[in-house]
Amino acid sequence: METRPVVLIEADGLYKAFGTTRAVDGVSLSVRAGEAFGLVGPDGAGKTTTLRLLVGALRADRGRVAVNGFDLASQVDQARTGIGYLAQRFSLYGDLTVVENLRFFGQVRGLSDAAVERRARELLDFVGLGGFEARRADRLSGGMKQKLGLACALIHEPRVLLLDEPTGGVDPVTRQDFWQLLIRVLGRGTAVIVTTPYMDEAARCHRIGFMAGGRVLVEGAPRELTHRLAGLVLELGAEPRNRARAIASQDPDVLDVQTFGDRLHLRVRAAAGVLERLPLALSAQGIVVERLRPVAPQLEDVFIALLQEHNRAAEAGLQ
Ligand SMILES: Nc1ncnc2c1ncn2[C@@H]1O[C@H](COP(=O)(O)OP(=O)(O)OP(=O)(O)O)[C@@H](O)[C@H]1O
Ligand SMILES: [Mg+2]
Repeated sequence: METRPVVLIEADGLYKAFGTTRAVDGVSLSVRAGEAFGLVGPDGAGKTTTLRLLVGALRADRGRVAVNGFDLASQVDQARTGIGYLAQRFSLYGDLTVVENLRFFGQVRGLSDAAVERRARELLDFVGLGGFEARRADRLSGGMKQKLGLACALIHEPRVLLLDEPTGGVDPVTRQDFWQLLIRVLGRGTAVIVTTPYMDEAARCHRIGFMAGGRVLVEGAPRELTHRLAGLVLELGAEPRNRARAIASQDPDVLDVQTFGDRLHLRVRAAAGVLERLPLALSAQGIVVERLRPVAPQLEDVFIALLQEHNRAAEAGLQ
């Protein structure tokens, strides 16, 4: 009986520099069958470079990658056969139709004509593009293009799927559809790494790695990450908000203030003193305080905190 590894993506100590830029600076990660790993972080963090190393589009300066149990350096063909990759700026062929694009990617992957036709039918149905077979790719909406891109990445039934900002610039309804598709892909035991700028998408992943400056600063389940700030985020509802924000920022225990809808989130060193002092400080300035209370931290709070710590450490030359 064939035994397949449960860990489908394993990266160990990956480094990649472009000149003096350490784009990927010691990244290790492992992703299991059926698991969605979210890679999030600011522009230039190294997310795309990491995916390109994992797919073998770039050669790492150091480190090793195994995909589906195959070493990417010494067993490159077997490793690559197992990977589907949707690049950040992937290109469909605009002057080919939907089904011709699928055929093209199927042929590139070495599928037989019969297999290509079977997979094209399945995938068109899967991504909801049945009925659009004959439409030219450059006439598709943005969301439909992303779905066709996903279908092309899945044409050879990879067990590992790497998606680089697959929902960038896509409307919320289509993003929701896209995630429903991913959930079905995961249900078949595929390991998925997805980069995203959207925290609501990151929260859907089983695990998240937060990247900055080429490193994965922290990694864990969304709930583990938010737990790090338990008791250290206060919600403030006060008018006028801008002045409330300025005054809150001056409290010695307030580390930073972010706007969340019509409320402010204060990240604090310790809550007790702020809860006592701030209402007085605000009302002394004629600011009406609707509420000030501890709230469950959101992923945004965690990422802002991490990024500030990272930037502070970088500025202090501790990197
Ligand atoms: N081919 C390249 N040549 C030179 N520098 C590069 C190259 N590719 C990436 N970089 C640099 O490496 C760093 C990481 O870039 P990367 O594209 O991996 O970031 P990212 O996290 O994907 O960012 P974004 O969120 O903007 O997509 C950046 O400083 C970038 O300018
Ligand atoms: Mg990128």
